[in-house]
Amino acid sequence: MEKMWAGRFSKEVDSGVNAFNSSISFDGRMYKNDIEGSIAHATMLGEAGIISREDSETLIKGLNEILADIDSGKLELDMTAEDIHMFIEAELTKRFGSVGKRLHTSRSRNDQVALDIRLYLRDEIAEIRALVYKITDVLCNIAEKHTETIMPGYTHLQRAQPITFGQHLMAYAQMFLRDLERLDDVNKRMNECPLGSGALAGTTYNIDRFMTSSLLGFNAPMVNSLDGVSDRDFCIELSSAISIIMMHLSRFSEEIILWCSWEFKFIELDDAFATGSSIMPQKKNPDIAELVRGKTARVFGDNMTLLAMMKGLPLAYNKDMQEDKEAIFDAIDNVKLCLSTFIPMLETMSVYKENMRNAAARGFINATDCADYLVKKGMPFRDAYKITGGLVAECIEKQTDLEHLPIECYKEKTDLFADDVYNAISLDTCVRERKSYGGPSPESVAKQIEITRKKLNK
Ligand code: ARG
Repeated sequence: MEKMWAGRFSKEVDSGVNAFNSSISFDGRMYKNDIEGSIAHATMLGEAGIISREDSETLIKGLNEILADIDSGKLELDMTAEDIHMFIEAELTKRFGSVGKRLHTSRSRNDQVALDIRLYLRDEIAEIRALVYKITDVLCNIAEKHTETIMPGYTHLQRAQPITFGQHLMAYAQMFLRDLERLDDVNKRMNECPLGSGALAGTTYNIDRFMTSSLLGFNAPMVNSLDGVSDRDFCIELSSAISIIMMHLSRFSEEIILWCSWEFKFIELDDAFATGSSIMPQKKNPDIAELVRGKTARVFGDNMTLLAMMKGLPLAYNKDMQEDKEAIFDAIDNVKLCLSTFIPMLETMSVYKENMRNAAARGFINATDCADYLVKKGMPFRDAYKITGGLVAECIEKQTDLEHLPIECYKEKTDLFADDVYNAISLDTCVRERKSYGGPSPESVAKQIEITRKKLNK
């Protein structure tokens, strides 16, 4: 295909260079957005009298035809074209001759591509948002069934204090709620229109940037034309927000992997969401969770690609910036893929309440409650802490636990202990009484679910 800029050159571009330079293999996915932007531009050109109304209408009709033909597969993208912008403009000219050549009046590919990416990302953010909404909703539903399911809570991966499975799941729900806010925030800042920035210095034509901005559903045109074509901060922000979603998913994956192990056996994944081994017949592997954890690394890489790509670029457009697309597209594709596989994996997993409870019953998880018992009887916390430490040491020596240690052993330490200590340190009491706001008790978790659902539906 002859280059639109061929006029200045005496030779055709080397075929290797053409392939090296071309971005249509990856920016082709923005064809709808490119056409949407061009229709707004053509409309404005006609309205402002920069081209005739008739030409404007022909361009709009032609662009819609091209859109329909690409959608239906009738028109295939030409992989030797330089990029999607050139391809569509060339096709328009092929079909409508010199009218097609008027489309690019007072526009540059620099503002065009800055626009297309924003339009594309806006749609993608809506899709990612729907998935993050879904996982938060699913977590509420599962947590609701487990407000009374006791499990060990950990710090340092050591059994620490008893919690409920509902509480554990709702912790993730809060993280995903913040992820939703972050996506909305990215969208808010991104939603300004660069079209009309031209190559970098605006234009001498009497364009109406407010018209194109509002036709395309933006809040306002971008204020500075250099900025309009120069920055990709919105890609960096979005890939950061996506990286944080992936980080949350990856931690969750790590726990799923642990919980599936024979050592924990807190949950079992549905057969449809696990895989086997080629050699070990007994294996059932949590591949999905592992792959999500693995893919998190590449998404972090995408974020770093974008940051590093931009750090040394002088204003305004530089071709380096063509590299933005593969990085941000990769982050988007992977977060969507991960969320949409992870959600049904969660929905179909079995929860082994007994194993969770048994694990919570070991490891002196109620030691804090034993100390708190003494505190409630008037002892300063530090003294109570020390006495309980001594009791734990005694239990370890006698190979027993606090629930089974005879009352005489307690009384030897202090007279404040009475028979009611056993009730105070029972697992059920420990969990039921942790009803501080945000805590793991059944009623606190039910409250968290209520608050979360409210936030989701506002
Ligand atoms: N394919 C290019 C990109 O993605 C479009 C902009 C080209 N602009 C230019 N001045 N060569 O960045």
